[in-house]
Amino acid sequence: MTVSVLGVAGSPRRGGNSETILDEVLRGAGDAGATVEKVVLAERDVKPCRACNACARSRVCIQSDDMGAIIEKMREAKVWVLATPVYWWGPTAQMKAFIDRWYSVPRDVFKGRRVILAVSSGGGPVYSDLMVKTFEEIFPYLGMEEYRVLQAPGSNSKTSARGDARLMKEAHSAGLDAVKTLKES
Ligand SMILES: Cc1cc2nc3c(=O)[nH]c(=O)nc-3n(C[C@H](O)[C@H](O)[C@H](O)COP(=O)(O)O)c2cc1C
Repeated sequence: MTVSVLGVAGSPRRGGNSETILDEVLRGAGDAGATVEKVVLAERDVKPCRACNACARSRVCIQSDDMGAIIEKMREAKVWVLATPVYWWGPTAQMKAFIDRWYSVPRDVFKGRRVILAVSSGGGPVYSDLMVKTFEEIFPYLGMEEYRVLQAPGSNSKTSARGDARLMKEAHSAGLDAVKTLKES
């Protein structure tokens, strides 16, 4: 069985801490034989929700942008890796716009998806806890399985996460285990 894994990078800064963790998870997933793909939100056109509520009936957003193609990737992938830095106790604007657009996405796209959350922050858990808690409410609400939460507190330089060998090992294992256990089930 081939498992598809989708990584979603939420930082506007390429190659920073959250994307480094994401890449290591994807590397682990690839080592377990998964097909991996990464979407960098800052390089895609994902418009904010306009609250027109048209999707309540049609389940389709009236906006024409890259979200439709991303939803297809979400549908194909059994494992999602969502990566974002903490910006003011919350996710980046790119990640928030992406999540708001889930409003239009049919529920079967979420159901049973295994999700790994990767979070970096300049400060300690006092900054990331609130955001992690938000995701931890959203995941079960949509029928998703929270598999691992990977955190890089104190990531003040662009390479902080890369220099944390324990975190990199944890990230690789998360990707590897998420795919391996799915294949075995
Ligand atoms: C606009 C902005 C807001 C931020 N807000 C916070 C914050 O509230 N708490 C915190 O701990 N770090 C904050 N940071 C620091 C980032 O979370 C930290 O540098 C993170 O490692 C960046 O991730 P990246 O390398 O993946 O872009 C902020 C950074 C920016 C640019």
